[in-house]
Amino acid sequence: MYNICILPGDGIGKEVTREAVKVINKIAAVNHLVFKLQEGVVGGSSIDEFGIPITDETLDKAKHSDAVLLGAVGGTKWEHLDYKVRPERALLKLRSELKLYANLRPVKMFPSLVAASTLKKEVVEGIDMLVLRELTGGIYFGSPKGIEKLPDGQERGVNTEVYTTHEIERIAEKAFTFARRRRKKVTSVDKANVLESSELWRRVVTKISKRYPDVAVEHMYVDNAAMQLIRNPKSFDVMVTSNLFGDILSDEAAMLTGSIGMLPSASLGDHHALYEPVHGSAPDIAGKNLANPLATILSVAMMLRYSFNLMELGESVESAVQRVLAKGYRTSDIMSEGMKQISCSEMGDKVVEEINKG
Ligand code: IPM
Ligand code: MG
Repeated sequence: MYNICILPGDGIGKEVTREAVKVINKIAAVNHLVFKLQEGVVGGSSIDEFGIPITDETLDKAKHSDAVLLGAVGGTKWEHLDYKVRPERALLKLRSELKLYANLRPVKMFPSLVAASTLKKEVVEGIDMLVLRELTGGIYFGSPKGIEKLPDGQERGVNTEVYTTHEIERIAEKAFTFARRRRKKVTSVDKANVLESSELWRRVVTKISKRYPDVAVEHMYVDNAAMQLIRNPKSFDVMVTSNLFGDILSDEAAMLTGSIGMLPSASLGDHHALYEPVHGSAPDIAGKNLANPLATILSVAMMLRYSFNLMELGESVESAVQRVLAKGYRTSDIMSEGMKQISCSEMGDKVVEEINKG
């Protein structure tokens, strides 16, 4: 029996998790597994109900589950609030309380979606890379931080990029371990020509790389990495980088595949795991049954694989998604000429129908 904590969150988060739950239930039914699902409130929905982005009750539910599936948090409604109580804080708190230091964002081109990319077919066809983002350190969490008043009436805003040896070692270990199961190449992205924290990052990654002589390692400055991602994305296998650089580069990498609506993610620690689509709450299309649930459904596939070690079941979800796409079904974000446009809930139904047919 597996305990899964479902945190739909805000906006399209509610719609896409509903479809992912249908997939979880189907997997359970056909494989005679028991998934115990428990829902929690998070983000703007929690602010509306309890005045804070995440309650201890929700945190406890997450901590006592085997895996968390999160939709998305945030929306225009809460943008005027102070930083300390914004919906996004819930996400940061979950990451740090559950110690989810390794964020996996696989970027894979689905053959039937090559036309959806803004880049040329030759450049994007066959992209298969993993962005591995450090998730509980760096400038997101470093101190000092804050906004202070200066005697002359100005204000001063401060954040601090900090990395310790241990934090770099454990994410580097993960990068080389994943690379071993893939094409055996790690690109470590930093800004070591300017930043001391990056100088340490590069030194520690180099040290760890010696334990993996079968894996090739390269170091790249972040500005160059941003350029290489659109110039020659297929040259990457595993890209490992800091929290902030990973936030930026994973959005860029996501867009290579045509839609951020397709990309799943896993955030792993030594004891907990959280799965969520890379996209946000998309307030503009929320409640209209227009969202693409595939990123969340693919996040379920990652959950089956990484949290429950159900490799084949993870694969069966992915291949069901492939087949639905190959049949021409599209949500609006990936729609192209000659394809059949369907809604969020219809897309969920199509994937459920396909599971175990392949
Ligand atoms: C992401 C998001 C978050 C981040 C926000 C919503 C706090 O952009 O998961 O990439 O910056 O990490
Ligand atoms: Mg981001």
